[in-house]
Amino acid sequence: MDREFVGKTAMVTGSASGMGKAAALLFARKGAQVVVSDVNVAGGEETVRLIKEAGGDAIFVKTDVRSSADVQALIQKTVDVYGKLDFAYNNAGIARGIAVPTGEYKEEDWDMELGVNLKGIFLCMRYEIPQMLKQGTKAAIVNTASISGLAAHPANPAYVASKFGCVGLTKTAALEYAKTNIRINCVCPGPIYTGMFDYVKSVFPNAEEGARAEVPMGRVGQPEEVAECVVWLCSEKASFVTALAMSVDGGEAAL
Ligand code: NAI
Repeated sequence: MDREFVGKTAMVTGSASGMGKAAALLFARKGAQVVVSDVNVAGGEETVRLIKEAGGDAIFVKTDVRSSADVQALIQKTVDVYGKLDFAYNNAGIARGIAVPTGEYKEEDWDMELGVNLKGIFLCMRYEIPQMLKQGTKAAIVNTASISGLAAHPANPAYVASKFGCVGLTKTAALEYAKTNIRINCVCPGPIYTGMFDYVKSVFPNAEEGARAEVPMGRVGQPEEVAECVVWLCSEKASFVTALAMSVDGGEAAL
């Protein structure tokens, strides 16, 4: 394993589960100190335990990405413990009220969905960027959007709006800071086996067969396959890459 991130600090939101957890473990395997953050304390502590068991260094900071105070405290804790923030993977996300069209969609589900998936990304970048500028060293931010941020998916209005918003916000921030030390990109995963996919299957029992039929590569992705892209986007190998919405979807976005 290439230990290219020795001496670097990576913070990952939503890293108690799924893609965030896979990315936290991969950052650690590449030598980074990892700040695991999530609302799920037991899951977050388990991610830290796995990193430490493998000889890595990590802390858990309970964070609700909808809360400005929580996100500010998360960045402060990262700097207090590790002295800096090199990579931020803003990944926490939820899916609520799927299978409900716009004309019937509940306002509280809209607020919750946009609160986590879009305001959460904004708040994270709002406090990460000043810290990264202050450091002046090369830094990278990756946000998790979705293929639902690139094409409409009926009966999923808040999720689609939040993910289109994430893509737009990522590109806007990337251009704002393009001449600085910070690169900003997002990943747009297709269907991936995670906690969220389990939720989708609880609403649509045939979701897995449907996904296999829809994805050109004929399968659902693994969280580790997204983590590899996130880590690459943070690495120096991606030194000329900013404002990218990278599909990680077995070809689905090309349909
Ligand atoms: P997951 O459910 O396994 O992980 C999401 C994590 O976010 C959980 O640990 C959860 O506790 C945490 N979280 C939820 N609300 C939070 C909050 N307010 N503050 C902090 N943490 C919070 O699901 P998955 O799939 O790993 O989700 C990661 C990202 O990937 C999300 O942004 C999701 O929208 C996106 N995504 C997922 C796809 C899939 O098929 N699984 C496809 C495309 C995008």
